[in-house]
Amino acid sequence: MPSVLFKNISSLCGTRSVTNVLRGDELADLPSIKNAFLLTANGKIEDYGSMEELQTDFPADEIIDCSGRFVLPAWCDSHTHLVFATTREEEFVDKIKGLSYAEIAARGGGILNSAKKVQQASEEELYESAWSRLEEISRLGTGAVEIKSGYGLTLDAELKMLRVIKKLKENSPLTIKATFLGAHSFPPEYKEDHRGYIDLIKDQMLPAIAAEKLAEYIDVFCESGFFSPDETKEICNAGIAHGLKPKIHANQLNVSGGVEAGVEVGAVSVDHLESMDAHAINSLSTSATIGTMLPTAAFFLRMGFPPARQMIDAGCALALATDFNPGSSPSGNMNLVISMACIQMKMLPEEAINASTINGAYAMGVGDELGSITKGKKANIILTKPISSLAYLPYYFGNSSVDKVMLNGSWIN
Ligand code: NIG
Ligand code: FE
Repeated sequence: MPSVLFKNISSLCGTRSVTNVLRGDELADLPSIKNAFLLTANGKIEDYGSMEELQTDFPADEIIDCSGRFVLPAWCDSHTHLVFATTREEEFVDKIKGLSYAEIAARGGGILNSAKKVQQASEEELYESAWSRLEEISRLGTGAVEIKSGYGLTLDAELKMLRVIKKLKENSPLTIKATFLGAHSFPPEYKEDHRGYIDLIKDQMLPAIAAEKLAEYIDVFCESGFFSPDETKEICNAGIAHGLKPKIHANQLNVSGGVEAGVEVGAVSVDHLESMDAHAINSLSTSATIGTMLPTAAFFLRMGFPPARQMIDAGCALALATDFNPGSSPSGNMNLVISMACIQMKMLPEEAINASTINGAYAMGVGDELGSITKGKKANIILTKPISSLAYLPYYFGNSSVDKVMLNGSWIN
């Protein structure tokens, strides 16, 4: 793999000699070096520092002049559902006409609509469309992504989705983590038989997934009308027994008890958090669980945004992700997520970028290899267009200031 020397970088952001999850006030500190160099070799970050520290005759296969440009760690999108069969614009229009997300779900739309389509699709079709979504998000600066199943809802269709994710993992330059979300919704035939579906997850789906090593994480949609906190804990504990770590959907539509349930089972993250009360914030802030906010989903569903400032003040560890899916966030654009976090949730640009890089990496279990400019970490790098300041990135919203993206030391475009 060729070595690449980035010279005259206007600002090299996210430089950290050691890394850990950032909480509360720590989120506002994005260590950066002005007029910097960065060297990548063998797919890894080899060295970095200020231009004064660089030997003039430094050998590298490629030398790139980055005057006026910023260099950052590539985005780590720790929550997506980007394997799906078809888009859902009809529901988008129904929502414009006044139906709520919950009303659409109750009519057999929503997740169940996507499940029907995934059940009918071939593994090949699902793979091809997901592959092009991966290409699209990598051009927007994403270098690592978590992908969930959960649009299968039968043993066969859940395994089909997870096998697609496994194949994406094998072939894509992005770092990918797989999450089993069989508990995304009760299939219609189990609407009155929750016990039956939970037993199907525990007795058939989980053993098959563990045997094929198809997932690292287990997720449950803890929400009224979906899975209760007790059901959530039972399913997470069954996943833990099969070697999966919980990452759960909590407090999206209601104060569901999902945050407390996630904290109780030691979840890596609890995600959404649009509906938080003081108890949920306190529970999160006093735990090791990361709170992952998905502002484009709140935007698309016309909901209130997560109370980011209150959670930062309480000392929570927070990440940002896209929730890329056909129902509540048909966008995998982390640049837009960062803009919305700043505009609607009053996060500082530094906070939003930390939440989208180092904390996103920890929220998908790759904090030791990604999410910062650290020697020995994977060379997953964003080179921006010429920009005037860090704040310009979220400020210039709806546009991409990403010029080039490097994954594992190779340019993708
Ligand atoms: O994270 N909330 C549950 N699941 C997805 C949406 C799924 C869908 O509508 O298809 C989410 O928003
Ligand atoms: Fe989601």
